[in-house]
Amino acid sequence: MHATLRVIRDEHSSLSAVLRSIGLLLSESRRHGLGPDFRVLRAMLFYIDEFPEKVHHTKETALLFPKIRARSSEAAAAIARLDADHARSHRAVLDLQHDLLALEMMSEAADAPARRQRFEDEMQAYIDAYLDHIRREEVEILPLAERVLTVADWADLDAEFMRNRDPLTHREGDDAFRPLFKRILMTLPAPLGLGPAFEALQKSYPGGEPAPSFWTTTSGDPAQRGAKAVP
Ligand SMILES: [Fe+2]
Ligand SMILES: [Fe+2]
Repeated sequence: MHATLRVIRDEHSSLSAVLRSIGLLLSESRRHGLGPDFRVLRAMLFYIDEFPEKVHHTKETALLFPKIRARSSEAAAAIARLDADHARSHRAVLDLQHDLLALEMMSEAADAPARRQRFEDEMQAYIDAYLDHIRREEVEILPLAERVLTVADWADLDAEFMRNRDPLTHREGDDAFRPLFKRILMTLPAPLGLGPAFEALQKSYPGGEPAPSFWTTTSGDPAQRGAKAVP
């Protein structure tokens, strides 16, 4: 498989796992009658803002899509829609980060329950839209790229895509975000949906020692800070 396609699919796997985990985290908190786990949610939204929105989308829009357009008009409408998604979704994740902060800061306000419901609805809409976006890229665009791009196209893309690897799947080099994501993955218990990302991490750090709880340097065990560990 071309390095470009492997990078895109790896990054999609990590992102899908984080998105699904956010949805499960919210629904499990509600099911157990608990407030949202703000620290984990903040870390996950920070990841989505910091890497997929700023780097993954940019590589697709600036590098991959123009090369496909130059070789085929077959998916022009689908690519235009994906580009439009990219242009919109960064704003959306910034809004979600703000809404999460507002939920935390205004947790004792009279409208807190309505605010929480609104945040959860908006978060789920974002998750659903993003997973559909990834599906369209994998079903419609990547197979088309394999059919129409030339050897020279792939050589260019592969060189570019090996830069700025996703910190969740990055196998070499240093990365300032890596410890954060390792902690997120280690902290969230099964079955919160981090299996694929966890496997990617294990591939990246074969034989690595599991980290202690992400939160031990602050408030200790999740159960002690009000977030029940889901069995
Ligand atoms: Fe995309
Ligand atoms: Fe993508």
